[in-house]
Amino acid sequence: MATPIAPVKINTGDKIKDQFVVKKKLGEGACGQVFLVDLIQGKGKAAMKVEPLMKDKLDEILKMEVYVLKKLQSSRHVCRLLGSGKTDTYTYMVMSLLGKEVADIRRRLPQRKISAPSTVRIFIQLVKALQDMHEAGFVHRDVKPSNMALGLKNEQVVYLFDFGLARQILLADASGKLKLREPRSKSQFRGTVRYCSPNVHQHKEQGRHDDLFGALYAMIETVTSSLPWKGKPKKETCALKEKTSDQDLCKNCPKSFVEIVGTLRKLKYQDTPPYVQFMEKLRADLPKGVKMTDPFEWNTSPQSQLDDNNNDNKSDRENAERGVGADTVNEVDESIITESNGESASSSKNGGGADYAPEDTLDNL
Ligand SMILES: Nc1ncnc2c1ncn2[C@@H]1O[C@H](COP(=O)(O)OP(=O)(O)OP(=O)(O)O)[C@@H](O)[C@H]1O
Ligand SMILES: [Mg+2]
Repeated sequence: MATPIAPVKINTGDKIKDQFVVKKKLGEGACGQVFLVDLIQGKGKAAMKVEPLMKDKLDEILKMEVYVLKKLQSSRHVCRLLGSGKTDTYTYMVMSLLGKEVADIRRRLPQRKISAPSTVRIFIQLVKALQDMHEAGFVHRDVKPSNMALGLKNEQVVYLFDFGLARQILLADASGKLKLREPRSKSQFRGTVRYCSPNVHQHKEQGRHDDLFGALYAMIETVTSSLPWKGKPKKETCALKEKTSDQDLCKNCPKSFVEIVGTLRKLKYQDTPPYVQFMEKLRADLPKGVKMTDPFEWNTSPQSQLDDNNNDNKSDRENAERGVGADTVNEVDESIITESNGESASSSKNGGGADYAPEDTLDNL
C-alpha cells in the first residue's frame, strides 16, 4: 500500500509559503487533492495539486508531474506551472486554472454527446497536445476525457493534464542527442481500462501510438456517447478491443476516425505517429465554415445547455469511480490498477510484481 507519512491537513484560508491562499477543494483523484488558491503576489487564481509525503519515496508521483509539466511549458495545450514545493507533510504544484473537463461537458449535454464538428476540433488539438508531449520526450499513459479540459478564459483551447502516469521515452545519449528508450519486455498495467489501447492490456511497453489510441477511444465516446466495451468487465473489454472491427468501432463517427484507427493498429513502439496526417484527415471532416475559434455549441445553442442538476448525468462518473452500477461493473475509472493483483496502483505505482520491469522514478531516470 502507498502509505502517507501523515494525512495532509489543508484548510480554507491556509497560506502556503506566503505565496498562495487556499480557497476551496476543486477535485480529488488517485494521486491527491486539487485546491483553488489565490495568488498573493501577482493576484489571480490558480489550482494547487497536493500529494502527501509517502513512507516509500517510490510512491511519490507529484514530483514526476512537476518535472513533466516544466518540460512542456512551450506547449499551448498544458497548464502554466506557477510554482512547486514541499511542506512538512505534502508536496504541491501550482498551475493555471482550467475550465470544464471534456468528460463533464459530454455528460451534462442533453444527449450525453458532443457534436461531430466540436469533437473533431477537440481531437485535432489533442493530437497536437500529444505531439508536443511526445516531442518533449514523454508518453502520457492516461489519456481520457476526465484528463482533458477546455481553457477557463479561452474556451476553445483544449488542455491535457494529469501527468501522474507519464513516462519519459526519449533520453539523451552521451552526445546529448535524444534517443528512444528501449522498450521493456513486460510492464505493469498503467492507464484506465476503458480508454487504454489493446497493447496495454497485453502489458506491452506503451509508446506514442498508445496515447493516440486513448485519444481516439475518448473521442469515439465523446461523439457517440458510448464504446463497444463500456460497462463490460476488464477481460471482456480487452477481448472486445481485439475483435471489434474498425467499422463497428467507428460507427456514427466522423469519417477520419476509421482511417486513424487503421493506421494506429499498424504502428509499433518504435514508430513516430503521423500527427500531421491525422490532423489533416480530421480537418477534412470539418463542415465548411466551421472554424477552430468558433464557440462550442454549449456556449451558443439553447438546445445544448449544460445541465448541472441532472443527477443521472453525474452518475456515470460517480459509479465509475465507486465501481458500482450496471454501466461500470468492474470498471472503476481505474487509472493505475495493476493487472497482477487488482490493487490500486497508488499502492504500488513504482514497485510491483516480480514479473514486471520496475517503473522508473525521477531518481533513476
Ligand atoms: N489546473 C486545474 N484547474 C482546475 N481544476 C483542476 C486542475 N487540475 C486538476 N483539477 C481538478 O482536480 C481533479 C483531479 O486532478 P488530476 O486528474 O490531475 O488528479 P489525479 O489525482 O491524477 O486524478 P485521477 O486519478 O482521478 O485522474 C480533476 O479532475 C479536476 O477536476
Ligand atoms: Mg485525472
